[in-house]
Amino acid sequence: MLNDCSGKTALVTGAGTGIGRACAMALAEAGASVVVTDIDAATAVQTAALITENGGTARGLGQDVTDESVWQDVIACITAEEGGLNILVNNAGIAIGVAVTEMSLADWQRQNAVNLDGVFLGTKHAIPLMTQSGGGSIINISSIAGLVGAGGLAGYCATKGGVRLFTKAVAIECAAGDTNIRVNSVHPGIIDTDIWGKEIAGLAQTQPDLLVAGANRVNIEAFTEAVVPGGRVGQPDEIARGVVFLASDSSSYMTGTELVIDHGQTAG
Ligand SMILES: NC(=O)c1ccc[n+]([C@@H]2O[C@H](COP(=O)([O-])OP(=O)(O)OC[C@H]3O[C@@H](n4cnc5c(N)ncnc54)[C@H](O)[C@@H]3O)[C@@H](O)[C@H]2O)c1
Repeated sequence: MLNDCSGKTALVTGAGTGIGRACAMALAEAGASVVVTDIDAATAVQTAALITENGGTARGLGQDVTDESVWQDVIACITAEEGGLNILVNNAGIAIGVAVTEMSLADWQRQNAVNLDGVFLGTKHAIPLMTQSGGGSIINISSIAGLVGAGGLAGYCATKGGVRLFTKAVAIECAAGDTNIRVNSVHPGIIDTDIWGKEIAGLAQTQPDLLVAGANRVNIEAFTEAVVPGGRVGQPDEIARGVVFLASDSSSYMTGTELVIDHGQTAG
């Protein structure tokens, strides 16, 4: 069956909301048993509950992806409880919208820690268990901001560009090392999630018309209208379907590549 993930165990980080939640739910629908983690443990547990209500298998755990000892605990826990790991979606991320001249070193490092250290640590600690499990698929959630530059998002672009090339290098290591692990990145365009009401809203310091009137949230409808062919905002499940494809054996000859899901935003 196309995109079948039955019999596989998946770990999705930052899966309490948004794209991560959609990925966890779609992987469960494709048959995977899913470990859902998020720095906000309550939301991870909620995602897991949604999956089990739909007849899937999941459990939720609190996890800060920047903490190496927590990664060791999570992998030990999956080894003990699930017995193996086949799919890792390094999804947890933050976006800080600020001009580079205004960005504090602390914010630069905090964003690097979540978006880049988190992907590194997850990959480092998952590979041995995935290898023991007969192989699998690592999917790193980058962004179109990892392909092209965006004003007000220089720090974010640096992390997402880093994720893109980290992915390719690890894919080569894994293929050469005969691990049977594939590693690919996914590059979403403008997707309707809570992220646009968080620290990315600082983008509007330079472009006030980007804000939803009376709210500290980027007006993604107006933004999309301006920059996306067809003017359509993406939905989290439209990213999740690409992730399930990369997680399953349907993409068995794909490694070290990038899947862009942006409705043509970077096509021109
Ligand atoms: N929404 C978009 O338009 C868009 C576009 C391109 C890329 N992305 C990327 O997609 C991923 C998911 O973003 P989203 O849009 O669903 O955002 P979101 O804010 O809805 O979800 C991000 C999740 O990550 C969690 N998180 C934050 N810091 C964490 C940490 N230290 N450890 C563990 N979990 C942590 C949050 O609690 C949240 O549940 C991110 O990597 C983001 O950069 C999003």
